[in-house]
Formats: sequence, C-alpha cells, structure tokens
Amino acid sequence: LPTHFTLPSGDKIPSVALGTAGRGEVGLAVKTALEVGYTHVDGAWAYRNEDEVGKAWKASGIPRDQIWLTSKLWNFFHAPEDVEAALDESLSNLGTEYLDLYLIHWPIAFKKGTDNVVDLELTANPYPTWKKLEEMVDKGKVRNIGISNFNIARVKNLTANPLKYKPAVNQVELNFFNPQPELLNWAKENDLLLEAYSPLGSTRQVQESLNQPIVQEIAKTLAITPAQVIISWHVQRGTVVLPKSVTPSRVEENLQVTALPQDLFEKLEAAAVSHPPARVVNPSKGWGLDFDIFDDEW
Ligand code: A2P
Repeated sequence: LPTHFTLPSGDKIPSVALGTAGRGEVGLAVKTALEVGYTHVDGAWAYRNEDEVGKAWKASGIPRDQIWLTSKLWNFFHAPEDVEAALDESLSNLGTEYLDLYLIHWPIAFKKGTDNVVDLELTANPYPTWKKLEEMVDKGKVRNIGISNFNIARVKNLTANPLKYKPAVNQVELNFFNPQPELLNWAKENDLLLEAYSPLGSTRQVQESLNQPIVQEIAKTLAITPAQVIISWHVQRGTVVLPKSVTPSRVEENLQVTALPQDLFEKLEAAAVSHPPARVVNPSKGWGLDFDIFDDEW
C-alpha cells in the first residue's frame, strides 16, 4: 500500500495519520503515535487541543520537516480579514512556523462573535476565504491548502473560480456505513485527494463496523485485526486515513496497514456500498441550520 500520496504541490502526504478530535488524552496519543512511527497528525483549531498536540510533538524531539501537521480554519474565521489571525493562533498553539496543510473545516461560515449565525454570503461563495488561504501559501505560513466536508456541488462552486492553488484535499467522513463511492470516483476523476475521517465509523458505529462478517473474515484470513482491515481498505481505495484513538495499543495497531488481496478488497467494497449510506457526522441540526450541509441540491 502507498505510504504517501503526492499533492499538486509535489509534497508527499503520509497515508495514515493520527486523528486528534475529541476529548481525552490527546497528548499521550500523539506521544505514542510519534514513538511508534506516525509522521502525520491531523488537528484543528476547533479541537481546542493544539497546544497539547504541539507539546507532545516538541517533547518527541522530531524535527519539523519530519512531521506532517494539518490544521483547519474554524467557521467563525472565514471572513478574509480574520483568516490570518486564526491561522496564527493555530501556529502558535502548535509551536510551529508553518503548517503542511490547512483546510476550511466546514463549508459553512458563521458571523464572527455570534453563536452559529450563518454568514450566507460567505457560505454561498467561499472564494474570498480561499484567496486569503492562497495568500497564506505565498507568505510561507502553509504549504498546502484544502477543504473539508464539501460535497461535489460545493467543490464545483469553489473551483469554478480562477484559482492560484486548487484544493489539495477534501477531508470527509468515509467509513463502512458511509463509503461515498460517487464522491470518491468524482474526486479521483478530478485529481482531488480525499482524506477519510471517522474511518472506523466514529464512536457510534465502530463496534458495528469491526463486527461485520466480511471484516471479521478478512481479519482471520490475513491474521490482522478488524480495525487494520478497515484502515487498510481506506488506503487501498486511494484515500488518506485518519483513525482516532487515545488508547496507546490501538494507536500502534492502527498504523499497521497492509494490502488486501484484490478479491477480498472487492468483497469489502461491495459490502460497504450495498446498504443505504448512514452518515455519522452532520452538525446541520445542531447548528440550527435550515438546510442540510450535505444536500446535493445546495
Ligand atoms: P479509543 O479512542 O477509546 O481507543 P473514528 O476514528 O472512526 O472516529 O473512531 C474513533 C473511535 O474508535 C474511538 O472511540 C476509538 O476508541 C475507537 N478505536 C480506534 N482504534 C480502534 C481499534 N484499533 N480498535 C477498536 N476501537 C478503536
């Protein structure tokens, strides 16, 4: 399996990363990850733990150019005049001069200083935000820029503009219950790398994913764990994969990917796309939106 994917900039992004969303001992997870060989940590301003991530990285002694750091611009900061300060805060919390990858976390802009009041203009047209991100590349504060949680219509809406740098990745939910084959195919045709978050199904569906008969069968055949089957499947589909764990043994387990024999890979793919998709992560209602973020008709 590929250990890296190449981005339009020529940078090589490691195919397996530690996801750092959520509460818990993120520092210990990062420490463990770096000890067992991870070179890619996926974070975000919104996780409110970038200082902890930064401290764990610094303590590891790993040089800056040996680690891939991703962060994400939160919804409050889409206004062009707010982007650089938000980025600076992530840089300072992580204790670094630059990010390898910076993503627009959601295709939804909130008015700054409000409690989730949508800025309809910036949400409908993310181009001003994007241009500011391009400027951050030119300033040397980020090496690559991308998007997250964009459906095909929203990607097209952004990329219809004259871009200096096209989105390097789109980070989206991908797992056994929400494998998004159309989005994956479209992204491949358009040379857009996907990154899989909640790759095991996120807290709610992890056990159900790992207990799938086909997953169990492959695990037995290859003498690997069910989580390793699923994480390997993601990389074999051609996506970066971002499993989260705060359990040291699992952090280590999740880095060990291996190519599945083609017939077993296809069996797992067929099983994943055979049921109606069930998305785990959708904050549309929680944010009080009167539309669905992932609606094709957007
Ligand atoms: P924990 O953090 O307690 O180890 P996802 O990455 O799809 O969002 O899933 C995260 C959830 O999956 C967490 O609850 C995490 O538990 C659990 N998890 C992560 N790796 C494994 C693994 N190898 N085996 C079982 N559960 C795992």
